[in-house]
Amino acid sequence: MAVTRVPLIAGNWKMNLDHLQSIAFVQKLAWSLRDAKHDYAATEVAVFPPYTDLRSVQTLVSADKLELRYGAQDLSQHDSGAYTGEISGAFLKALDCRYVIIGHSERRQYHSESDDVVASKTVAALRHGLVPVVCVGETADDLEKHGPSAVPVAQLAVVLGQIAADADIVVAYEPVWAIGSGQAATPEQAQQVCAALRESIAAALGDEIAQRTRILYGGSVKAANIAGFMKHRDVDGALVGGASLDVDEFSAIIRFRQHVGTV
Ligand code: PGA
Repeated sequence: MAVTRVPLIAGNWKMNLDHLQSIAFVQKLAWSLRDAKHDYAATEVAVFPPYTDLRSVQTLVSADKLELRYGAQDLSQHDSGAYTGEISGAFLKALDCRYVIIGHSERRQYHSESDDVVASKTVAALRHGLVPVVCVGETADDLEKHGPSAVPVAQLAVVLGQIAADADIVVAYEPVWAIGSGQAATPEQAQQVCAALRESIAAALGDEIAQRTRILYGGSVKAANIAGFMKHRDVDGALVGGASLDVDEFSAIIRFRQHVGTV
């Protein structure tokens, strides 16, 4: 039986919007989606604000009974203790976070996060009942040397080697050269790598979990190109950076079904 995966459109705010701005943003987004009669069961929506915003977002989501989900942009691989500046998955769970982004290329690049650290953080997220959004992707140099799939598949393999066969994870394929560059991968490139990632999940954890796991594309996604990605069978949503900071643009990306026929 074919498995239906609910698409996930996720907004990675990076280091933007303070806690007051986060409230205004989430309110406007919720109004925009309510006006558009958005069906959250058909397309899930999540935002990933900075840590300092999470309590404000939680309060708003709970007070207004919003169907929007949220999560953090990183977490510690440790649960508690002498780790100055780190945030435990337990704290995120206490704020009702559903998700946490792990191994974003900016963490790998600027904070030297290795594949092993990414795997430990993924295990930590699962230990605390969070759904990890595990980011993988090749640099322009990797692309030239190894082709599109080899590096993301190898990065994911380290994570797959350390999680239980029934783990609930989301994978985000984000080619580093496409992030923030305005130069998105083509939908065909994204499909090719997402399919390779799904095959690697099937090989490591079995076909059932591979069919169940959502694989997102990220890198210069905007309202004008989302529909092209979403037409492909192995692309189950998007991790959106810059375009997720504009309410109208992000809302239009979420409503990709309405412009699926326009590309
Ligand atoms: P971008 O960022 O949409 O601004 O390219 C994507 C990401 O870094 O997750």
